[in-house]
Amino acid sequence: MTLVERPQPEAASNDVLVEVYASGFTPGELTWPGTWADRAGRDRTPSIPGHEVAGVVSALGYGTRGLSVGQRVIGLADWTRDGTLAEYVAVEARNLAPLPGDIDFTVGASLPISGLTAWQGLFVHGRFQAGQSVLVHGAAGGVGSMVTQLAREAGAHVIGTGRAADRQDALDFDAHEFVDLDNDSLEDAGGVDLVFDAIGGDIGKRSAALVRAGGMLVTIAGPPEAQPTDGLAVDFVVEADRTQLGEIVQRVRDGRLRTNIGQVADLDDAVAAFNPTERVKGKTIIRVRP
Ligand SMILES: NC(=O)c1ccc[n+]([C@@H]2O[C@H](COP(=O)([O-])OP(=O)(O)OC[C@H]3O[C@@H](n4cnc5c(N)ncnc54)[C@H](OP(=O)(O)O)[C@@H]3O)[C@@H](O)[C@H]2O)c1
Repeated sequence: MTLVERPQPEAASNDVLVEVYASGFTPGELTWPGTWADRAGRDRTPSIPGHEVAGVVSALGYGTRGLSVGQRVIGLADWTRDGTLAEYVAVEARNLAPLPGDIDFTVGASLPISGLTAWQGLFVHGRFQAGQSVLVHGAAGGVGSMVTQLAREAGAHVIGTGRAADRQDALDFDAHEFVDLDNDSLEDAGGVDLVFDAIGGDIGKRSAALVRAGGMLVTIAGPPEAQPTDGLAVDFVVEADRTQLGEIVQRVRDGRLRTNIGQVADLDDAVAAFNPTERVKGKTIIRVRP
């Protein structure tokens, strides 16, 4: 990965060109096929990674509606096109939502993937209802911290899990209880309506048995390796959604939702920030413009 000069992208039909102020990425995205190939499977290297953006609309493509030049926006760029770790990115307008002037670009760029994944996992795929119990694996992480807060606000009893060092963070993000996966027994937390798994592997496998009859195992870390005996298992990939982003932004604005930024780096330092040698708690955001 290197920082290079590339031609400025052009806004295609229904796109907007965004002047990027801040960009976010997901640690595992370089392993995803869409990073290296377009939708038809054609090689598209060299690729620009990063799919979360906060910035200002600088041009509209043919036929683009709903946004205007000069408007502050956030959103999720297409997985199979060049991403947001750049000074400009072309994004479909429908993937973007307005960003109010009182939310910093850095905060805005931290919301699309973690916020939308949490929202969709809980309310769309997980069919969450008030009063249910939710077990959140990785509750102090980028996605898990959002799931924890949204579930709690929506009337869940929330049990967070993670490493011993994450206990206080998970409780600060509003989990009622915490299970330390290194030292506590995960099985003691069993009998929940919904497991939201942001860890996968062995933790995901053991989680199917924790789901109560009629409940759900929702995983974002790959296909579930075990199914609840009397319940459903779902894995999904986050999708852009302007309305849901609007709900998330509103909650950040009025203090109901706190984002989880661990590190902010400049574009010049993006390569190092993308490949950290030490653990970073929370999301890393790249500040592209001051
Ligand atoms: N399907 C989708 O649409 C989608 C969307 C977003 C993210 N994802 C995926 O979901 C996963 C989580 O993303 P994220 O951004 O929330 O990552 P993150 O910020 O690193 O959060 C993961 C949390 O889980 C903890 N954890 C991981 N393995 C653990 C283990 N074995 N025992 C205890 N704690 C463990 C991590 O602690 P440490 O940092 O100490 O490991 C961290 O606190 C990633 O694999 C990501 O690629 C999928």
